[in-house]
Amino acid sequence: MTEQIQPIRGMNDVLPAQCVLWQHLEDTVRELLTAYGYEEIRVPVVEHTQLFKRAIGEFTDVVEKEMYSFTDQGGESLTLRPEATAGVVRAMISNGLLRGARHKLWCMGPMFRHEKPQKGRYRQFYQVDVEAVGFAGPDVDAELIALTARLWRRLGLTRVKLQINSLGTVESRRLYREQLVEYFTAHHEQLDEDSRRRLQGNPLRILDTKNPDLQQLVAAAPLLTDYLDADSQAHFAALQASLTAMGVAFTVNPRLVRGLDYYSRTVFEWITDALGAQDAVCSGGRYDGLIAQLGGDATPAIGFAMGVERVVELLGQLPSQPQPAAADVYVVLNGEQAATAGLRIVESLRDALPQRRFELNLGGGNFKAQFRRADRSRAALALIIGADELARGVVGLKPLRLEAGQSECPIAELPVRIEATLRASDMQE
Ligand code: HAM
Repeated sequence: MTEQIQPIRGMNDVLPAQCVLWQHLEDTVRELLTAYGYEEIRVPVVEHTQLFKRAIGEFTDVVEKEMYSFTDQGGESLTLRPEATAGVVRAMISNGLLRGARHKLWCMGPMFRHEKPQKGRYRQFYQVDVEAVGFAGPDVDAELIALTARLWRRLGLTRVKLQINSLGTVESRRLYREQLVEYFTAHHEQLDEDSRRRLQGNPLRILDTKNPDLQQLVAAAPLLTDYLDADSQAHFAALQASLTAMGVAFTVNPRLVRGLDYYSRTVFEWITDALGAQDAVCSGGRYDGLIAQLGGDATPAIGFAMGVERVVELLGQLPSQPQPAAADVYVVLNGEQAATAGLRIVESLRDALPQRRFELNLGGGNFKAQFRRADRSRAALALIIGADELARGVVGLKPLRLEAGQSECPIAELPVRIEATLRASDMQE
């Protein structure tokens, strides 16, 4: 047998049964974001490598070791996007959308990171990405977080908890960074290899270490919150007051630093205890410096991204699940000459009843096999089209979930009869 081609590790096929959950999530997200005044934007999956280096930061894990970068036939270094914010900001600059204007945008699609695959961590994963650009906050910060809280409520997800922190301005972060480097340098012998590397490029990331041997050292490290400038403190206090006023529960986590360099002030993460190690389902924050850093007019902004696979996994744990839509009508064909008539009749019924789902028996099969398929389609009604009936200008009609027996209906009256039978069936359920 010819050897099969294997899928790429960490890149998943989403099969039809799971797509029902994905669509449920996508529909809910789309509806909610539209209700909050967000507009969809679609940007390319591939960008110049330089964009991500400049936006995300040279010393982040993402840029240092996780990017899918390649040189294309024209000799340009391109990268499959590891996240969406850089591309959305680039698109706004390229299309002249900024210039003092404000935009509330969202997009959805696959991201790529060459991480070690495990449950909840993939190399191709989907994000719903949301960005509010041109708003200095903290009102928009609060509303954006309230939006995510509402999304969990709509989806029926309860095992998610909000953590927030403030990273302050670039200047207050610089001050803090100096303190941190001093502290960790004084304890250099206790650091692991990873942390020693981070000490040079990105000391804040040491706070994020999962190494149990370092937890005590990290716990005693200086706190970012103690180095916040007055404006950032006021911003953070106002955000907390608004969240409390809206009844959105949160914890301040002074160790929450995020893995991408563009953040300033507000950062937040929704964490769950239901997924194991990969516990962040939705994360984001303010990135007031990024747009200028990418060559646009200085514009404040905030956003977040949600890991779709992780949220879908949570949805899959709920006691009740959305079901794939059932067919309304299954069309059984009696005899070969009925096949063409069947196609013609069903197409005209699809014209007449565009909201109804018709499933035409394809590929032949005896009566019994066709009725078995009709059952499996969960249709409420079977139509039976045969040469005898056609000669008399009628079609057989058999409700599959009502007590009623089989009857006949003139072809011209079918739309009305089908609709009436389906309504009766719906009412009985
Ligand atoms: P991030 O924290 O890197 O932020 O990713 C956001 C979310 O994407 C995470 O909370 C997680 O749910 C999901 N995620 C990340 N990596 C993986 C992976 N390998 N497999 C599965 N899910 C994953 C960002 O990407 C920022 N661009 C968010 C943002 C938007 N900040 C401002 N605007």
